[in-house]
Amino acid sequence: MKNEYSIFELLKTKPVGTSMTLSGWVRTFRSNRFIALNDGSTAKNLQCVVDFESFDESLLKRITTGACIRVSGKIAESLGKGQPIELMVESLEILGDSDPEKYPLQPKKHSLEFLREIAHLRSRTTTFGAIFRVRHHLAYAIHQYFNENGFFYVHTPVITGSDAEGAGELFNVSVLDKKNIPFTDSGEVDYSRDFFGKEANLTVSGQLEAELLALGLGKVYTFGPTFRAENSNTARHLAEFWMIEPEMAFYDLRENMDLAESFLKYIIRYTLTHAEEDLSILGQRLTDEDASKPVDQRAMPLLDKLKFVTENDFQRITYTEAIDILLNSPFHKKKKFNFPVEWGMDLQSEHERYLVEKHFKSPVIITDYPAAIKAFYMRLNDDEKTVRAMDILVPGIGEIVGGSQREERYDVLLDRIKQFGIAEESLWWYLDTRRFGTCPHSGFGLGFERLVQFVTGMSNIRDVIPFPRTPGNCEF
Ligand code: 4AD
Ligand code: MG
Repeated sequence: MKNEYSIFELLKTKPVGTSMTLSGWVRTFRSNRFIALNDGSTAKNLQCVVDFESFDESLLKRITTGACIRVSGKIAESLGKGQPIELMVESLEILGDSDPEKYPLQPKKHSLEFLREIAHLRSRTTTFGAIFRVRHHLAYAIHQYFNENGFFYVHTPVITGSDAEGAGELFNVSVLDKKNIPFTDSGEVDYSRDFFGKEANLTVSGQLEAELLALGLGKVYTFGPTFRAENSNTARHLAEFWMIEPEMAFYDLRENMDLAESFLKYIIRYTLTHAEEDLSILGQRLTDEDASKPVDQRAMPLLDKLKFVTENDFQRITYTEAIDILLNSPFHKKKKFNFPVEWGMDLQSEHERYLVEKHFKSPVIITDYPAAIKAFYMRLNDDEKTVRAMDILVPGIGEIVGGSQREERYDVLLDRIKQFGIAEESLWWYLDTRRFGTCPHSGFGLGFERLVQFVTGMSNIRDVIPFPRTPGNCEF
């Protein structure tokens, strides 16, 4: 039943003269003779040639766009242009009909917005096939990089009793009867009667647990789903996204940055070699889309951009230097920023984009942010105003990585926990690692979908995950 060869393999090996049986979905059927067959293994179709006189009219009518068919025949060198080989069909079976009047995917260009509404079918298009294959290669490269570099893949819980980022944007996990919620005397929900006997949420980050494991295993990483109930309907936020979080004992901030940079370059280089065809298709899509824009708003061609990233050093600046650049920028002088620039503020995406796209025209690592705008676990600098944080920003996306050296000093950490108004008891296990054999350590989190966006050039994050979860949208 299964395909002995994928179309990807066939087009590579070109086994002219070999007989075979092959299944796939019909992209088009023209002149009652040429079927463009796709099996998902590559963006390319296999041309299957039908001698219409040898087949029933009623069978030929069922070869429609979207139908699933099985064909048997011999591979021959193609006489036509556009494909090296074709399959001369000897027998043909319809596995699944597709009514051409009703099938939503017509052989024409559909908008990305429309395709989002039919996410259950969009993986059958050239663009989404390419995106999801690139997504696979990136995931594979990530595991390969860590495996080659002595990291252990660890699994941190999806349901947690803590709020790692202190961001408070949590999805609650509860089995309490919604019609009869128990309350405490002080009028709060009585989670002691809930499933876990305490309040529980979907994780926003596996970092805190990864830290515990790094302090036993040395170098670890997680790669799992994370959840944020932030109500931001932007092109770079999802309610459910995948995050890669390495955590390393004995790494300081500079070593953390060096790792992040070499890691990003490695996985992009891997994808350039293993998904070249799909990246070319996506690059062409971007060039076509950009053609309608004014010249100064066009992005660098996709493959050039990716090669640039793998071949050049990332810029490294402190937050304070970033603020100086922004204050001295023509943009600021002409009052073009919507948010005022001053030391202490969180960088808005317009500021991040100015730095990477206009000023440096390259990925940038910004370090040493004000302590007040970063999480409690980041190591406090001697100035007591800034922390050893690092964010990596890339053109077109902004922040793709957030990380830091961690606060390993028990007293300082406890102070920070109190300052942030976090209940000390809720983090007793985290504090324990600072009481018993603490050590300098660092880590970061890479948003997987933002990486896929960067590599595929897709402008909306909803188009790089098969079934996006965003405010008001949980279909499929
Ligand atoms: O900067 P963040 O919030 O950092 C953390 O969660 C740390 N605990 C990571 C660590 O040090 N181990 O998130 C990390 C990255 C961001 O840089 C961004 O790429 C991505 O996760 N991200 C999102 N991606 C999609 N949708 C969202 N709502 C995201 N929020 C963060
Ligand atoms: Mg961040």
